Amino acid sequence: MRPKSILVTGGAGYIGSHMLLTLSRAGFKTIAFDNLSSGHRIPMFTGDTVIGDIQNEALLSDLFSRHHFDAVMHFAASIEVGESVMHPEHYYENNVVATLQLLKTMRAHRVCHLIFSSSAAIYGEPIYTPLDEKHPCQPLNPYGRSKYMIEQMLADFAKAYDFHYIALRYFNAAGADPSGLLCEQHTPETHLIPLALQAAKTGQPLTVYGCDYPTSDGTCLRDYIHVNDLCDAHLLALEAVWQQKTSGCYNLGSGQGYSVQEVIDTARLITGLPIPVTYATRRPGDPTRLVANADLAKEQLGWQPRYSDLPTIIKHAWAARAPLDSLLSI
Ligand code: UFG
Repeated sequence: MRPKSILVTGGAGYIGSHMLLTLSRAGFKTIAFDNLSSGHRIPMFTGDTVIGDIQNEALLSDLFSRHHFDAVMHFAASIEVGESVMHPEHYYENNVVATLQLLKTMRAHRVCHLIFSSSAAIYGEPIYTPLDEKHPCQPLNPYGRSKYMIEQMLADFAKAYDFHYIALRYFNAAGADPSGLLCEQHTPETHLIPLALQAAKTGQPLTVYGCDYPTSDGTCLRDYIHVNDLCDAHLLALEAVWQQKTSGCYNLGSGQGYSVQEVIDTARLITGLPIPVTYATRRPGDPTRLVANADLAKEQLGWQPRYSDLPTIIKHAWAARAPLDSLLSI
């Protein structure tokens, strides 16, 4: 028997909404759960939606009583590194406490399969690159620490109870579904690719944070991974927890680092627009180089990224935001 019915927390967010689309294309029944605090859109053509917060014990319990879930995909979280430094309480509450609430409810209703949206932020400053899963976890900020605490909580649950999970450690999620139905959008937007495309559109300069890093062009290197490749990995992870009753943590990245300057140059090529830039000092907490070794996900889950070369990522991101921008400008 295959899993059929999936609860997607954070279904209105960037990755959660892409996941709903992927699950619906693969024939799953989904319920999206989101408090709409920062999410922007739930694809209306996918399953049901419940607006609420996972910290609302009564609401969550009622949801699990009314629906049977084979598994949960847990995306709901606060994700801004800078904000987490200013307001750590919010991150421990909204990420750690809320996840504990979710796990307790899952246990009470005998739902024992979870796919967790983790982050490369749990590693901290790399001691070596590319980073594999054995790299020490020394997160630099409360956001990364909250994700790491959750991973530890999940491991303890898996040891103690009939509970199976896979934590997927994303590197830099980017791009958009090739259909153009969904796009990357955060409020406020802090991510490089959407900001570069915004600069292409508006002609307002993009700020490059630091050009004195020890890299070939002086700007930071990141590993950009297409959101649809992330979603594919979630489907494979679901199959693995379901069939093999396994648990574990996997990096998801392309294994290829691109500098901020290379991202800007590629975005100029794809959009055919100049993208003005200004240079500023380094952004606090930015490691020089974050590149994944994702061999484990390939070997054990059978994952193979399909779209994660930089031009394809930017092409899809640009195609997805162009219609949105023109609607906004009406
Ligand atoms: N950058 C700029 N100008 C900007 C925005 C970003 O120069 O306006 C630079 C950053 O300094 C960094 C690179 O572009 O060097 C990428 O920055 P992003 O903000 O797009 O992404 P981050 O690498 O900071 O963080 C992302 C996620 C985190 C996750 C991390 C793990 O947002 O949640 O990847 O790799 F933890």
